[in-house]
Amino acid sequence: MLSRSSSSPRWTGFFLVFLSLCSLFVPAVSVKHENFKTCAQSGFCKRNRQFADDVTSSSAWTSPYNIDPATISFSKGQLNAVVLKTVKDGEDKVRLPLTVTFLESGTARVTLDEEKRQKGDIQLRGDSKVRKERYNEASQWALVGGLEVSEGAALSEKAEDGFTKVFYGEGGKHQALIRHSPFSIDFQRDGETQVKFNDRGLLNLEHWRAKKEKPVEEKKEGEEENKEEKKEEEAEKGEDESTWWDETFGGNTDTKPRGPEAVALDISFPGYEHVFGIPEHATSLSLKTTRGGEGNYNEPYRLYNADVFEYEMDSPMTLYGAIPLMQAHRKGSTVGVFWLNAAETWVDVTKSKTSANPLSLGTKSRTDTETHWISESGLLDVFVFLGPTPQDLNRQYGELTGFTQLPQSFAIAYHQCRWNYVSDDDVKDVDRKFDKFNIPYDVIWLDIEYTHEKKYFTWDPLTFINPTKMGKQLEKSIRKLVVIIDPHIKNTDSYPVIDELKKKDLAVKNKEGNQYEGWCWPGSSMWIDCFNPAAITWWKTLFKYDSFKGTLSNTFIWNDMNEPSVFNGPETTMPKDNVHFGGWEHRDVHNINGMTFHNATYQALLERKKGEVRRPFALTRSFYSGSQRVGAMWTGDNLAEWSHLEASLPMVLNQGISGFPFAGADVGGFFGNPSKELLTRWYQAGIYYPFFRGHAHIDTRRREPYIAGSPYTEIMTQALRLRYQLLPAWYTAFHEAATTGAPIIRPNYWVHPEDEAGFAIDDQLYIGSTGLLAKPVTKEGADSVSVYLADSQPYYDYFDFTTYQGAGHHHTVPAPLEKIPLLMQGGHVIPRRDRPRRSSGLMKFDPFTLVVVLDSAGNANGTLYLDDGETFEYEQGAFIHRRFSFSAKHASLTSTNLGGRATTKTDKYLKTMANVRVEKVIVVGAPSAWQHKTSVTVMEEGAKESARRKQVDFEFFPADGKKAAWAVVRDPRVAIGKGWKIDFSDKSGGGDHGHQH
Ligand code: GLC
Repeated sequence: MLSRSSSSPRWTGFFLVFLSLCSLFVPAVSVKHENFKTCAQSGFCKRNRQFADDVTSSSAWTSPYNIDPATISFSKGQLNAVVLKTVKDGEDKVRLPLTVTFLESGTARVTLDEEKRQKGDIQLRGDSKVRKERYNEASQWALVGGLEVSEGAALSEKAEDGFTKVFYGEGGKHQALIRHSPFSIDFQRDGETQVKFNDRGLLNLEHWRAKKEKPVEEKKEGEEENKEEKKEEEAEKGEDESTWWDETFGGNTDTKPRGPEAVALDISFPGYEHVFGIPEHATSLSLKTTRGGEGNYNEPYRLYNADVFEYEMDSPMTLYGAIPLMQAHRKGSTVGVFWLNAAETWVDVTKSKTSANPLSLGTKSRTDTETHWISESGLLDVFVFLGPTPQDLNRQYGELTGFTQLPQSFAIAYHQCRWNYVSDDDVKDVDRKFDKFNIPYDVIWLDIEYTHEKKYFTWDPLTFINPTKMGKQLEKSIRKLVVIIDPHIKNTDSYPVIDELKKKDLAVKNKEGNQYEGWCWPGSSMWIDCFNPAAITWWKTLFKYDSFKGTLSNTFIWNDMNEPSVFNGPETTMPKDNVHFGGWEHRDVHNINGMTFHNATYQALLERKKGEVRRPFALTRSFYSGSQRVGAMWTGDNLAEWSHLEASLPMVLNQGISGFPFAGADVGGFFGNPSKELLTRWYQAGIYYPFFRGHAHIDTRRREPYIAGSPYTEIMTQALRLRYQLLPAWYTAFHEAATTGAPIIRPNYWVHPEDEAGFAIDDQLYIGSTGLLAKPVTKEGADSVSVYLADSQPYYDYFDFTTYQGAGHHHTVPAPLEKIPLLMQGGHVIPRRDRPRRSSGLMKFDPFTLVVVLDSAGNANGTLYLDDGETFEYEQGAFIHRRFSFSAKHASLTSTNLGGRATTKTDKYLKTMANVRVEKVIVVGAPSAWQHKTSVTVMEEGAKESARRKQVDFEFFPADGKKAAWAVVRDPRVAIGKGWKIDFSDKSGGGDHGHQH
């Protein structure tokens, strides 16, 4: 990939010439479409789309897939049968083993395999030695639980002829109606169909067939025969053979030793107008349709992890990661499917509207969403979730693929990165400047230039002379270092890492069975094959402190380029006929590849030093379902443009509802130089990314927040401080994600699943369950934003308590540059830490402020989760988990334990936190009855008799125009880890306690 910078002089020279030539012809910034396939250029996608068109245009079409009723058996929550695919009249039918498994969670799983391939009864072409089966190990990488089979699932006794009906899920609320001929399944909840398989007859499993070698040159007299053959071909609908056996794109020929082997299925969601998910794409949260029409796409959403240089906005093009989870949402119901396949996948989305019949009362117009899933190889393996809420869906998916890892607390603070901090002195200087300007940050990052000639696990001896000293300086303010380690290993002499990789035979192979060699940052490289357990074992050794010298316990890792990015490979990645451990083709495992590398790094970080187990932090660019278990992701190489700032919100929101919420975009934009205004607005938005990192390309100007100058630096500092102030709320949201699968930042539909008008809203967000509603400014020159309120609770401006109220419409909130539009929904208690510090580590024992935001009935609730933010001891009870409730009826705020039974670890942790107190309680929307109150009564569990009921200063501030009344309790001095009560009632401290203000 020439249009990237690399600091090797040879490349730089070449690059500059190339760039200046290019700049004569091409606009400065745009994705190179010609480097990536369209559906029509991807043989199996084209065939299946064509097939869909043929089927849709034919009125007489019936799907050739039928269950052989004699093969149906049902036991222990699983149905087994054989689906027969009729190929051509008279020919043998292709046997496809089907399983439908009903899980305890209420989820159903459908797999369809191919008997011949399963048995290895096929001939590979050429002298290929790859596996003959359809890839069946995706589940081993993606799934970690949730597979308990439902013992209660039962066949219906009175199913109609030609159908098998199974009741499953809690109380048998779910039903699968399996039709035998043609084969299809309707998934129902309470008798109503929610999800349909093969309703449109697009099921297509390309069965194995031997290649018919055709005569090379046809003679004149052969022409008749030839016509016959063509006719035959046409008779077989959708059977365009041109890419069955090999396929050429961009000068690379993909050999296909197993011939055509795609799997495709239509999945419909009747009555659902919105579908979300299937990241990663730079598109809106509510997915657009893909078969043309105004404002829609012409291409299916593609999932084929790739290093897409200068990716474009509003596009179904593939990006770096893939999560094949889609959820469909309508008022009253959320359902979804998880298409567990690791090969290149395309998804068409269409919608059909049925208008209300004006003559028949009670009929409503209705929209159905139809989808068509097409994968190049592998099993058909699909999970169906029946919700019924977005919360249920995320939990059900999370039970299968794992919840997000609870990160160390530093990891959710601010990260400062650029390509590159050029020396250890540079790093130390940036570190000092942050302090000088009083800007908080936790982590500084090193990109590829820290290495000696792009050899990972080495330091450039001229520029990073004393990395240990550098690390120690950071440690002084409890800061961390992240260094990049990519999966390509430089193929060069006297580099022990490549020597070992070769000697131990741990690299990905090419189709000839030799170690595959390609081109990336270091030039000629090889790729570690993390599908191989031995490769993971070896990888772990490289991160030990005595192996990766110069790293300390405050060093963490960034994994990039793990799609994998191969500059000279087809579509900037590996050839599909490369071979991985176990004999699987790269084709089969491509979308999982990045996760295996990220996973190996996670394992390595767990074992850096015996006896020192810390929660790893590893950032990845490429991901798949399950990556959430091992770290964070970011959205790759965006541009310093307003449109990219805007697009980052739906992208990060989509990650959240798709089970991988620890996500962010490069703040400031990677390529190009943002204006000061854009940079400032980006920081104001970036504080809402769960993963919050500023990053910049090597060719850009420095842009650390202290550089812009007044007023920008101060405004960015305020934004950063807001993130730090709310870290307790963020950490609590992460804990919720780690235990329930809930997104960390939440779109409107997720919080208000009944509010139809808000389903497509993707430019504002809620932080966890805090009721904090943010609407970042993404337009140049804006001085206000328009915030949509779905419910009728009062919403208060975070800073001055201006009240906004009114469900179902937009409200204008002022947003001059220095103002961050952030509202608090009535009904919540928000935990904060208000003391400005240099890093989050320095806040560990800081006191808390609780903001009690009353709802219209005068009540509020909130939670706080807290632990050491570093180790795994929380798993043995070393944490604080509190509920704060304000009750209007009792006029009191209480703190109660949510943590369950205390263990010795709990007690030990509580001791370390014994002096951490609540220093302030702010009540927003305070009742006017409090206006003369000057003190409140505080009671704490276990307090000494003398302190059991103490009076504490209280101050009331009356409403002022649109600004709500509020009150403050000063220093109640209650411990954050204890039970306590603050009594605001009349009995407690009226005007008669003598504390006048
Ligand atoms: C890739 C990454 C980018 C990084 C660069 C150099 O383009 O996406 O973040 O700075 O490589 O390592």
